[in-house]
Amino acid sequence: MKNTIVVGSQWGDEGKAKVIDVLAEHADVVIRFQGGANAGHTVVVGDQEFVFHLIPSAIMRPTKTCVIGNGVVLDPAQLLHEIEELEGRGFSVRGRLWLAENMQIVMPWHKQLDRLKEEAAGKNAIGTTGRGIGPAYVDKVARCGIRLCDLLDEQGLRAKVESILVEKNLLFTKIYDAPALEAGSIVSDYLEFGRKLAPLVANASLVLERAMKAGQHLLFEGAQGTILDVDHGTYPYVTSSNTIAGSACCGSGVGPTAIQSVIGVVKAYTTRVGNGPFPTELDGQLGESLRTWGGEFGATTGRPRRCGWFDAMVVRKAVRVNGITGLAITKVDVLDKLAEIKVCVGYTVDGRQIDDLPVQVNDFAKVEPVYETLPGWLSDTSAAVSWSDLPPAAKNYLERLAELVGAPIAMVSVGPRRDQAIFLP
Ligand code: IMP
Repeated sequence: MKNTIVVGSQWGDEGKAKVIDVLAEHADVVIRFQGGANAGHTVVVGDQEFVFHLIPSAIMRPTKTCVIGNGVVLDPAQLLHEIEELEGRGFSVRGRLWLAENMQIVMPWHKQLDRLKEEAAGKNAIGTTGRGIGPAYVDKVARCGIRLCDLLDEQGLRAKVESILVEKNLLFTKIYDAPALEAGSIVSDYLEFGRKLAPLVANASLVLERAMKAGQHLLFEGAQGTILDVDHGTYPYVTSSNTIAGSACCGSGVGPTAIQSVIGVVKAYTTRVGNGPFPTELDGQLGESLRTWGGEFGATTGRPRRCGWFDAMVVRKAVRVNGITGLAITKVDVLDKLAEIKVCVGYTVDGRQIDDLPVQVNDFAKVEPVYETLPGWLSDTSAAVSWSDLPPAAKNYLERLAELVGAPIAMVSVGPRRDQAIFLP
């Protein structure tokens, strides 16, 4: 296996966890490199279902090493909860889960600020997951973040928290009319988290270099999706990290020349949670049916996902900005009951075709999706184990998607289980 980055190619929730879980069989180390506990990865192994927010789902394969890289913003309480749950179900993480010592920590003021800003924004709210992600990245870039290494340094942590809270508490009490936070209990809670996590803290960049020198293969696990990228997405209705493949290097301490392939995960239709533009959204019964058939509810917040037709403009952009070398098309079985399936092949604005998604979010109001209608297959694909098992109309649909977005199909997924995956040569 080559060193591979897996990214979401739409608005997240494309089924990356399943794809990573399947690819992880051939990898040695799986690395998260951006985002935080806003991600929600559901993996089904046998009759057990696991939801991960921080730990790479490959942790359930006992021979694999997992790394949470410096590009992630870490909520230590959430991480400890996941570790306890895994260990409670018999999956040990000691000695094979490593946490980058220079990773930023999501602090209580980040979560409080996330919530207060969203409440204050009213109808202009982003619809965040409320996990403190945006404020944590703001402080990272403003150079006033707390890093994992700080949780191992009592004096340093106390001094930093006390100094940071002077400004944060002014913000809370004077601007938001909210209660101030108290340094003492935060310091003792986070020192305790540091004590518990200390055996897992490492120089992750060195861990990865040593793994590669030993001939091991790396698999990078993207969170969210390309159109939620803070630079390339539908700004400001985006998450606060770079979600695209290039971010895997900054977020882990591995150089770009180490990477050989990029898998773009795409759902056979489109979904979005949170607010913001969605040109192919289906408001009526059809959208409702896709939500029901696809179980489209957020893994982190439980919110119903907005559903719509496949949008080739979105995925074409993802192929470009990620350098996607192969597509993993998921949830094909969700379309089994449709007699006809629409695909958005382009956008027009005032009757003129445009080449890319609008840069200004308000301009999406003028976008008219151009649709092509393809025949459905009206049969159950969930038992297909090879490309030849798929009905001709399904193959035709998938090949048309690949042609429209300009990348070859590497894998097709027809259900949540590990064995419901078809690999193409
Ligand atoms: P935040 O990442 O919590 O700040 O939320 C910003 C936007 O990204 C909101 O629209 C969220 O619904 C969306 N978002 C964040 N994480 C995910 C994810 O893992 N899947 C899908 N959408 C997400």
